[in-house]
Parts: sequence; C-alpha cells; structure tokens
Amino acid sequence: MTDSNDILSIRNVYKVFGDQPDTAMQMLRDGSTKEEIFEETGQTVGVFDASFSVKKGEIFVIMGLSGSGKSTMVRLLNRLIEPTAGTIELKGKDITGLGDADLLDVRRKEMSMVFQSFALMPHMSVLENAAFGLEISGVDKDERNKRAQEALEQVGLGEHSSSYPHQLSGGMQQRVGLARALTNDPTILLMDEAFSALDPLIRYEMQGELIRLQQEQERTIIFISHDLDEAVRIGDRIAIMEGGRVVQIGTPEELMRNPADDYVETFFKGVDVSKILKAGDVACANSGCTIRINGSVQSPPTNGSQFGYLLDNSDKLQGVISLKGLDATAKANPESLLAQCMDSHESINSSDMLQDAVKTIANSDYPIPVIEDNGTFKGVITKDLLLQTLSR
Ligand SMILES: Nc1ncnc2c1ncn2[C@@H]1O[C@H](COP(=O)(O)OP(=O)(O)OP(=O)(O)O)[C@@H](O)[C@H]1O
Ligand SMILES: [Mg+2]
Repeated sequence: MTDSNDILSIRNVYKVFGDQPDTAMQMLRDGSTKEEIFEETGQTVGVFDASFSVKKGEIFVIMGLSGSGKSTMVRLLNRLIEPTAGTIELKGKDITGLGDADLLDVRRKEMSMVFQSFALMPHMSVLENAAFGLEISGVDKDERNKRAQEALEQVGLGEHSSSYPHQLSGGMQQRVGLARALTNDPTILLMDEAFSALDPLIRYEMQGELIRLQQEQERTIIFISHDLDEAVRIGDRIAIMEGGRVVQIGTPEELMRNPADDYVETFFKGVDVSKILKAGDVACANSGCTIRINGSVQSPPTNGSQFGYLLDNSDKLQGVISLKGLDATAKANPESLLAQCMDSHESINSSDMLQDAVKTIANSDYPIPVIEDNGTFKGVITKDLLLQTLSR
C-alpha cells in the first residue's frame, strides 16, 4: 500500500549474485533456503523478497549482522546493484526500467550516497573535493564552488575549504564526504555505515549533526548501521535484516516491546531502555490521583495516594498537592485544595527521552507529572515505575 508520505517504496525485491539467477529464483519459490541454494548452485541470495516504504523526511535505519544484506539493499535502492526481481518506486514512479541517462539523473538529483570511508583526492582542496561530484556532472566551476561551499558550511567545515585532506582529522574527512553528498541537494541520502570508522565521540557528534540536518532540511535519510545505540538514537524506524530478509520494521520502541523473533530480540538485549523510551511511553494513564476542579471537586481523592494532581476542565495541570493530613472536607473543596498546592512543581514532557528525565524523577519528593505536547496531563512517573522500567 502506498501512502502520499512515502517517498521510496520497494516491492518483492530480490537480488541473486551469480550467473544462474533464474535457477536460484525458482529454488526460492520452491522453498529452498539461501544456504541450500548456495550449496547446490553457488548462487548467493543477497536480498530476499524485500518490501517496505520509506516516508519523506524520516531517518530509516537498516540493521543486521555482517552479510545480512544491508549494503546490497541500499545499492538496490539507487540501482547501483540491479534487482533480480521486484520493483523500486521513487515518488510513485517505477525506476527499475529506467535507461542509463535517466538513472544517472535520478542518482544526481534524488539520491546521493555516503560510504563508510572514501578516498578524498589528496592533491585537491577540501572545496574541490566537496565539489567533485558536481564536476563529474558537468556543473560549471562558479556554480559548483558555490554549492560546495554551502554544503561545507552545513557540515561545519566552512572555514576549512582551502585546506587539504591531510590537514583534516578522520571525522573532518568524513564530513567532506557528507558535504559532497549534499552538494546536489538530494531528496534522499543513502548512508552505508557512514560513521562506523569514526572515534566514538566524533561519531556521536556526527549523529547529532545528521539529526540536525534532517530536521532543518527535511531530508530523507536511509542509514545502515550495525550499532544499536546509533540506530536507536537517529532512527525514526529501524528495519532488521537477517540472511537477506527484512525480518521486522518498526520504531525502536515497537521492536523492543514486540520483537518478531529471537534474532530481533537479541539485538535489543542489554540495550539501555532509557534511550529508547520517552517519558510518555512510561507514564501510565490513570496513574496519580487526579482531582478535577471545575467549581466542585468531581472525584475527590479516596485511595491511598499521597499526592494529588489538580486538573482544570481541559485537563491542564493546575497544581500538585500533598494529601497527607488533609481531612475529607478539605479534600472536597477545590478552593482550599488550590490554595494548599505546592508553590511550584516540576513536570516533564511526554516526548522527553526517559534518559533525560531520570534525574528529575529520581530526585523528586513526589511522582513527577508528565505533560503531553498540547499541555494536557498524561500521568505520573513514580520512582518505582522508573526502577521497574529501567530494570526490565
Ligand atoms: N558482488 C557480490 N557477489 C557475490 N556475492 C555478494 C556480492 N555482494 C554481496 N554478496 C553477498 O551477499 C550477501 C549480503 O552482503 P552485503 O554486503 O549486502 O552484507 P552487509 O549486511 O552489508 O554486511 P556488512 O555488515 O559486513 O557490510 C553476503 O552473503 C555477500 O557475500
Ligand atoms: Mg555492508
């Protein structure tokens, strides 16, 4: 099913490496496994019956063990590798049948690729290196230098345009690669382990940079990684590949909560859940003793809650009150309740990552209220709930 937000959709895509793809395809249809096919025919099934859609403006991460087909998959997307079967639609248009000239056009305008490491030309300046792709495309010098300079500025290398590659750190060189990919303002960036060769700190910084670029420019990014922390940090959705198959696609939270099989589950073992869950995922609705205060208290606290959360008619939080020592009359009177609320209370946003809220929750004397983006009360997170969640 296509949706108007889908920018790239692939359907039933297969890639068989070898000289007898038809034999291998027939064996696949007959139910043979990748291993059986390799043993009998020497053909390698790189990608097996892959179907998915990538939405405009999302960071779509492809993860999987070595040899699972990730690189083959992204190269199929821009037809650097020809699919053995299946269709690839870019903006609703099938690109599997395009001739060389049209395909080149697609690669220039729509999809740029950034590799794990690529050779910068040592004798060319940073600016010339960034402009290199445009030069090959025949863009004239003034124009390509202007676009390359802009791209270098986007990746924080604006000041280094006249340096030479040997004067740059590895991370800076990788940024030049990213800048080169950005010079033709592609709709989609394909990144194959683009940060894997970098030091952890620089890698972290580049991930932040990528998130920023994606947010500012609404670029669609398809990013291969085999690092779960990286995938979870930057990915809106993650596709998990195994043996050429796409096993499961979902948000990090969906994959963690409902892994399709042991393979997916293994990826998420030992992951820091506070980096995956948002405060809103943890706060239970109905948690916390809420008290409505439209003139009369509609549901005065009766349970053993020590704290009450006063909500107005539109569910906005008006105050937090300690219920200890309050008698029934006081509890039934909204004016008196409001007057006795704490002078100030902390709250966290539903969309905050749990890891950023841990300190606030742990240091608070009362269960921290969680507020939706539209300002309404979502629930509370108690220290117990936090501990349970983190130790799951
Ligand atoms: N040009 C090729 N000829 C034959 N087999 C290939 C070719 N390219 C890839 N393969 C095979 O296809 C399968 C998938 O390889 P691919 O490079 O896509 O894996 P990957 O997930 O990117 O692995 P890694 O994490 O190591 O980069 C592997 O079994 C590989 O040996
Ligand atoms: Mg690879």
